[in-house]
Amino acid sequence: MSVGIDKIGFFTPNKYVDMVDLAHARNEDPNKFLIGIGQTAMSIADKTQDAVSMGINATLRYMDKIDKDKVGLLIFGTESSVDQSKSASLFVKNALNLPASMRAFEVKEACFGLTAGLMMARDFVRVHPDQTAIVIGSDIARYGIKTPGEVTQGAGSISLLVKDNPSILELNDGHSDYSEDINDFWRPNNSKLAKVDGKYSTQVYLDFFSKTFEAYKKQKNLANKDFTAITYHMPFTKMALKANRIAIEGQDEATSQRLTDKFEAAKKWSSLVGNIYTGSLYLSLLSLLEHGNLKAGDLVGLFSYGSGAMGEFYSGNVVLGYEDQLDKSGDEELINSRRKLSIAEYEQIFTDSLADPQDGVALLSDEKPGTWYFAGTKDDIRQYKKI
Ligand code: CAA
Repeated sequence: MSVGIDKIGFFTPNKYVDMVDLAHARNEDPNKFLIGIGQTAMSIADKTQDAVSMGINATLRYMDKIDKDKVGLLIFGTESSVDQSKSASLFVKNALNLPASMRAFEVKEACFGLTAGLMMARDFVRVHPDQTAIVIGSDIARYGIKTPGEVTQGAGSISLLVKDNPSILELNDGHSDYSEDINDFWRPNNSKLAKVDGKYSTQVYLDFFSKTFEAYKKQKNLANKDFTAITYHMPFTKMALKANRIAIEGQDEATSQRLTDKFEAAKKWSSLVGNIYTGSLYLSLLSLLEHGNLKAGDLVGLFSYGSGAMGEFYSGNVVLGYEDQLDKSGDEELINSRRKLSIAEYEQIFTDSLADPQDGVALLSDEKPGTWYFAGTKDDIRQYKKI
């Protein structure tokens, strides 16, 4: 039975910071950010966009193309959670009028959350082939103004519809996992900003990639050359480039060239949007599908990583006609129509977004009509509205 990704919805907020502007403001050489880190821009969420509203907006991208009554599972992976108890899935279910007869919950393991949800969804659809599952990853990466991690921030969401006989990517059986209790990145309950040991996190990420990639190839009797492309969790594109260098090391010229070309296609959206944590691997998959000239049957390897830390490698095969399921021009418009912020504006928006809203005061959004946003709290209950 074939189960996998049938739809992909993406959302990112309508403002961004240009890395050259940021470099000038921080007295850094722009090439450090553009080449050394591999980022050109990063999306900025103001206080009216949070994990929930972005998750609703990402799912809305394909909502009119699916049978709502078939959705039996809604999993929300996030590390920017808005409530310690109630899951983000329930806000989404309500906003999108999804059926009451479904299982809805939230999962957490840093950036691994969406992959955890996807694997649960795959197993769910195998048992209930007449039903579908929505899996959302939605996050705002905030390290803080003038910190080393500042250049690797971002905001956005990816939503996947998982079903049998999928139209985009069939997920293959098997996966290789590796986990360890370490402190490379974390966010304590008393902090809205992430704590990160940036260089250590890169080392661990590369180590987990090597371990899970080797184990997966052994398990499935595959060689590097068998992969048409490999996509990676991409907090900043240089980190994933280092993993891709491991994948092409010692390979024949054709394999090395192909994996390099596909990597270029996969990094395009992340270099413009920044880190979206849980959705990051899937933003790179979307970018690969939209820029990588893939053909039906191509084997794509996926490396998921969540700090703390958890790594998983798995694969999928591209489905004939996958292009028709994508909305490349819609994704381009979302990214290209963002408003560029001055560094002073960004710093103000960033600082405002850290403050809790005053209860009972309605917030207004400047997103385009049809977009959902966080409209403030009433009696400490979060309100979500559509413009
Ligand atoms: N031209 C070109 N390249 C230059 C340059 C120039 N003028 N100046 C510097 N560089 C290069 C450096 O050589 C270096 O390259 P390498 O990595 O290949 O060595 C790169 O630019 C960065 O330079 P530094 O290491 O000096 O930069 P830094 O000390 O400011 O820190 C960072 C960079 C460690 C990435 C920091 O930005 C950071 O901590 N970011 C956050 C880390 C992160 O995202 N970790 C991922 C965690 S996984 C995740 O997503 C979290 C999760 O699961 C929740």
